[in-house]
Amino acid sequence: MNCAGCHSGANLSDNKFYNVGLYTQGQNNGDTGRMAISKKKSDFMSFKTPGLRNLITKQNTLGHNADKTLDEIIDNYSDGGTHRAEFGNIAPTIHALDLSPSEKADLKEFLLNGLLTN
Ligand code: HEC
Repeated sequence: MNCAGCHSGANLSDNKFYNVGLYTQGQNNGDTGRMAISKKKSDFMSFKTPGLRNLITKQNTLGHNADKTLDEIIDNYSDGGTHRAEFGNIAPTIHALDLSPSEKADLKEFLLNGLLTN
């Protein structure tokens, strides 16, 4: 898995913007992501990489709309971007991982308990 390609550094974020395919176009109350500021079509539905520390405190309020569960996020990466087909600008490092149920469970356990600051 290439998670650390974007979730890097002390806070586990590279502070850059990507479309990872988590949201469909119609969601988000019309929020088009970074494109709203940059006016570049290549930034459509791109959002800043969030840090991953202490996810256990917000495991059902993830994503830029705070409406995703950790299971949905893991499924999104396993699928290579749930809404991939709708976009031409999914980050090139996002591709289907086809994780098994036990691999998803291991990843969830790591994300919840392996990245705590204290
Ligand atoms: C191409 C860069 C990139 C890669 C690779 C990547 N992420 Fe992300 N990640 C993001 C971005 C951008 C978001 C915000 C997406 C959104 O809200 O639409 C995000 C969101 C998340 C979230 C939700 C965090 C929150 O507070 O909302 C989790 C958890 C996560 N990623 C874990 C992972 C895991 C695990 C992997 C590897 C399987 C991974 N990421 C690979 C860029 C990336």
